[in-house]
Parts: sequence; C-alpha cells; structure tokens
Amino acid sequence: MASRFYVTTPIYYINDSPHLGTAYTTIAADVLCRYHRLRGQESRMLTGTDEHGLKIQRAAEARGMDPLAHADELSATFRAMWPRLGCAPDDFIRTSEPRHKKGVQELWRRIQARGDIYLGHYEGLYCVGCEAYYTEKDLQQPGNVCPLHNKPVESVKEESYFFRLSKYGDALLEHYGKNPSFVQPASRLNEVTSFVREGLQDLSVSRTTFQWGIPVPGDPKHVMYVWFDALANYMTALAEPEDNTRFWPADVHLMGKDILRFHAVYWPAFLLSAGYGWDQLPRQIFAHGFLTYGGQKMSKSLRNTISPVALAEALSEAARAALPGGQGAAEGAPPRPIGVDVVRYCLMRAISFGHDGDFSIQDVLARYGTELGNALGNLLNRVLPFASEVPEKGDPGPLEEELAAAHRQGAAAAAAAFDAAQPTRALDAIWTVIAAANVYIDKAAPWVAKKSDPKRLATIVATLLEVLEGVSVMISPVLPVVADRMRDQLGLYPIAPAVGRDEWPWIPPARKAGEPLRKGAPIFPRLEKEKEAELIARFAPPPPDADASAAPHAKAPGPEAAKAREASAAPAPEGGAGAPAAPKAREGKPSVPFDDFAKLDLRIGVVTSAERVKKKDRLLDLRVDTGDGAPRRIISGIAASYSPEELVGKRVVVVCNLHPRDFGKGLVSEGMLLTAEVGDRVRTISVDDAAPGTPVL
Ligand code: ME8
Ligand code: MG
Repeated sequence: MASRFYVTTPIYYINDSPHLGTAYTTIAADVLCRYHRLRGQESRMLTGTDEHGLKIQRAAEARGMDPLAHADELSATFRAMWPRLGCAPDDFIRTSEPRHKKGVQELWRRIQARGDIYLGHYEGLYCVGCEAYYTEKDLQQPGNVCPLHNKPVESVKEESYFFRLSKYGDALLEHYGKNPSFVQPASRLNEVTSFVREGLQDLSVSRTTFQWGIPVPGDPKHVMYVWFDALANYMTALAEPEDNTRFWPADVHLMGKDILRFHAVYWPAFLLSAGYGWDQLPRQIFAHGFLTYGGQKMSKSLRNTISPVALAEALSEAARAALPGGQGAAEGAPPRPIGVDVVRYCLMRAISFGHDGDFSIQDVLARYGTELGNALGNLLNRVLPFASEVPEKGDPGPLEEELAAAHRQGAAAAAAAFDAAQPTRALDAIWTVIAAANVYIDKAAPWVAKKSDPKRLATIVATLLEVLEGVSVMISPVLPVVADRMRDQLGLYPIAPAVGRDEWPWIPPARKAGEPLRKGAPIFPRLEKEKEAELIARFAPPPPDADASAAPHAKAPGPEAAKAREASAAPAPEGGAGAPAAPKAREGKPSVPFDDFAKLDLRIGVVTSAERVKKKDRLLDLRVDTGDGAPRRIISGIAASYSPEELVGKRVVVVCNLHPRDFGKGLVSEGMLLTAEVGDRVRTISVDDAAPGTPVL
C-alpha cells in the first residue's frame, strides 16, 4: 500500500450556503481520508470554495455587496460547516487567496509557453449557473434552456483567449485506454470516452466583459475562465509549504457527475500541456450520483435543500430525549451526540456510491432503528451485561471459528471496498460481521453458559469483545463518534491513527484479561413515536397539496419542487364519497383544482435593474432577484406605466415557472410580473417587506 493518500472535494460555489447535497461529497471524502489514515498512510483531504466568475459576481450584486466581501462571508460559512459534520479537512483553499492566484498564473504561463494558448473571438452560448459553454444540441429546446438549471442560457460574443484542447483528444483517449480506473464508475468512463471521441473543440479560457476573476498574465483586461482557475486548486493548495507538493498526484478527485467532464477532460489536458507526465495526472476521478429530494436533484439553484446540521441536531436531540431521564449517562459528562454520525452513515449506506439516490427521513429513521439500533447497538448491549471486565478466553470451538472467519472475510471485503472508494459496499461488508456476531450470540447462548459453565461464558464474551473491537475500528471512518463511544464502553482508548501503523483489524487483537469494561447508556436508544413524527413532519418533502411555505427546510418551492409535487400528486377523487360538494358557481373563470394552482411557482422578487428596450416602446428589460442566487431576466410590457427608475428596488410578485418566452433579438424572459389594471395604467402587485424568493401562496 502506498504511503500517502490525497483526496479532494470540488471547491464549492459560494452562491448560497452548503446543503445536504454538498455535504454528501465532503463526507465521502472525509470517510475515505479517515480510512486511509487508519491504514497508516499519511493522508490529506482538501476542500474549499470557488469564488470567481460571473455567477458569484451576480450573486454578490444581488445582495448589493462587493464580490470579495460576499466571498469572505459565504466562504466562512462553508469552512465552519465541515467540522460540524464530523469532517476534518487538512486544508481549505479559497480561489481568492494569493497562493492560488500565483499558482494559476504560473500554470497559465507554462501552457502559454507551450504554444497552447492563442487569442481569438468567442461567440456562443453560456450557462452562468454551470459556468460552462454549451452548444444548442446539449440544451432543451425551444429556448436554449440549460438542463441542469432550467433556465435559458446567455449568448456571449467577445475577444477571448483559447486553449488548444483539440490537440489533446488522442492523448486523453490513450490515457483512458491504458488506465480504465482513471474515471470511475466505469459507466462514466464510457461517457467521457465518447465525448472525447466526438472531437474536442478549443476552449475559451478568458473573458473580458466582467472583472471578478484572476487577471490573465500580460493582458489584464482579460480575466481567466473560472474553470481554468478553479481546477488548479488541487495543486495550488499543495504549493505552500513546498513540502506538501509530495502529495501530488492526487489519489482521488471526488465530485458529482455534473462536473465530471471538467475534471476528466479539461484538467488532464491542462496538466499535459503544462508539461506534467502521465504519472503526474490525478490517479482517479470519481463521479458519484446525485442526492435527490422528492425525486429532484437537491441543489442551491433549485432551492430544495436540507440543512445537514439541522438534521443532525434534530436526530441528536431525538436520541437524547429517548434516554431514561432524557440526559444520557447517569454520571459524568453527557455522551457525545450521535446525530452527525447517523447522517454520515445514512448518506454512505442508503445511496449506493456512484448512483443517484433519494434522501428520505423515513429511510433514515428505519435505518436508525434496524441497522444502527437493532444490529449494532444491540450487539453491544447483549454482551456487556455478562461481564464487567475482559474475561480469560478459552479454546475456540466451531462457533468461534465460524465467527472469526466471518470477521476476517468481512474485514477484507470492507478494506477492498474502501480502497476502491466504495463506502456503501464497505458498510455492507461490515454489517455482515455485525450480523454474524448477533447470530453467534443466538447459537452460543451465553445466558445458558452463565448458569452452568463459567469458562464457556468467558470464552463467548471474550470472543464477542474481539469482534466488537474490530467493528469499532471498521466503522470509525463513517461513524467516528459512535466508534469512540463503543470503545469507551469496551474499555478501549479512542482511535488515534498514526502514520505507519495499520490499525485495520485483520486479526482480532488479543486483550489482557481483567481490563475493565464500562457499560454506558445505549448509543441508539429507541426513538419516541412523537419524536419520529416530528422529524418526519420537518424533513419529509412537502406532500402534493402541502403549503410549501410551512415546510422549514424548503426555502422556496422551486420550479422543480413544484414539478415533483405535480408528478406525485394522486388523481383527485371525482365527486366520490368524501369529495367536497361543489361550491355554488360564481362569475369568472371556471374553478380549478388546488393542485393546478400549486403548479405555479410564485415568489417575491426585488427588481435589481431596469432598462428600456430599443425599438420596443412597450417593453422593459428587468433583472429581478427571486432568491436564486443570480437575478433572473424578465421582459415586461409595462413601459407605458413605469419608468425604469421607478421600478429598481421595488418588490414584485413573479411567476417563476412559466415556459421561457422569446421576444426576439435574444430577449428571452424567464418569468412574468403579476400586475393589475388601475384606470389606464397597470400597477405591479407589491408587498412591503418579504425577502426575495419568499413563496407566494
Ligand atoms: O460545480 N447530490 O460547484 P458547486 C450530490 N465550483 N452531490 C451534490 C449535490 C447533490 N444533490 N449537490 C451538490 C461547482 N453536490 C464548481 C466546482 S471544482 C474545481 C469546481 C456536490 O457548488 C457535488 O460534488 O456547484 C457536485 O459536483 C458539487 O457539489 C457541485 O458544487
Ligand atoms: Mg453546481
């Protein structure tokens, strides 16, 4: 096994605070890093924030802030979040830091010196949400709508530097061919290979129409394309102190499948161009699936997120309340809360790593009760009542041999799975060991031995203590707090990995008879029914008819959430029993079911800019902050009633999920303002003080 391990997460955009989807990757990276550290490798995990580019500049503008002040604030939120989820990154890089700028400019110069950067003109389509160039065939038509952000992309036409990506297609294909594990899972490698086979276009790597970026060396009217800047973080973070460069190449770049192409195509091409050899490319790009919620990708842009810290705290609180006396241990400090571990465990176990998976609070509660409570917690509780110290182990019989074999096989399978960046499979393997130990108790029947055969009882308990110790080590990358709480009850020291010392339990370690055990409060007490109901009410996605504003986790029902509700809505009973009597008809449009009304995504918006449209007297071209991070463009026919100046700063009600409407000449409207006619003027519908993005229901 190599002596070093270096894992990275994407550096996250700071257009909003981190959510459970973002946490998914960071937790996975932390799990892998903890595992490799346990194996005695010098291990390093990097995360950070991606702070430049138009997306962030607009997010800052929408808040009326300077981009750096905005970045300082949001980046601090990310940095503070990770320890609260049990993650211990060794470094946190911000792309606005001098160490990063210096490194990126150096990379640019090296690539330029190789003749791979030239000046030209870019004309094409750009999604600011993705910070990516698109061609029409990759977009939803009509309207050139980005499939990830559900918004029309923008047209870009400007002078730009280009990177000769087209030159590197063959080299990349050769590399993929020789190193099939370079991109994982394998299906993703196929995707990337066919993308490269179709032929690579040179890549526009600078912009001139905004300033929030790293200046191009020698031509500061250009700032670098944000992905050129961002990808380099994995290396620039190692530059200081210089000794850290020994961690390169990275063992795994972890990310979601949305950004695979940037990592598997652009990044190695930049590195090859800059003169790095094959063996200096990252060893593996692992693209996991999406965490969905109510069937839709959980995302900042779609605003259907859950706060992982709130979830962990709520779980800890429910577990605490379930203990006798509500306080945990009878004496001494209360035990450390386990909510964070439960979240980590469920994310890693419930969603097969590499595939998409839905977050469900019901599933979390079910796993808490069965896999954590009944299987793991109970195992400990079934053993400790039989002894207050480690007993003398006698000769193993067939049952002991059977359990030892299951332990060895489970440990080997778990290690192989962690080595392959497969935490889900690793947990499956560890839980086979836990299951085998529970079966062993049933068969060995310590309660019978207790009455008749104290030596046999001693052997049974000592055997189980060995397995429990092994399990505590194996679960520790995923459940670090639980592992140490178990070990405390087993009378063992907390896990403290050291470089060069492999702690993986291949062979159950022998313990001295007589060492004290310390039975404590149950780690996973059975939750009260009311607490479970509270958790479900708080963290389940809104049911089809729900008043979404009442669900605290969903800041606003995004267009996707609305679609999900629509898709899952049961057909309304047609006048059958229980259907309310039809109200007396009134004048006006025919009545519609509530479900139809609920399909509309109505939100409070704040107008951030307004301009007249040339040669179209009726129209105003508006930017309206509807809480998406970046303002949306709305073309509104209210120029006869409002001057642009009157509208800026005004609160309005916006229909956010109408199909985009094209007014010609690139004027695509992403929504509509609600208005009412007063005399011969129209007036916008207004609210005094709601925040942008507040749902209107
Ligand atoms: O793309 N399920 O940043 P980003 C699983 N700055 N993973 C998710 C997720 C979900 N629902 N939502 C987010 C960027 N993620 C760039 C990266 S790297 C040089 C630059 C995770 O804030 C997942 O890892 O949009 C995804 O790839 C990443 O967050 C995107 O984060
Ligand atoms: Mg994104």
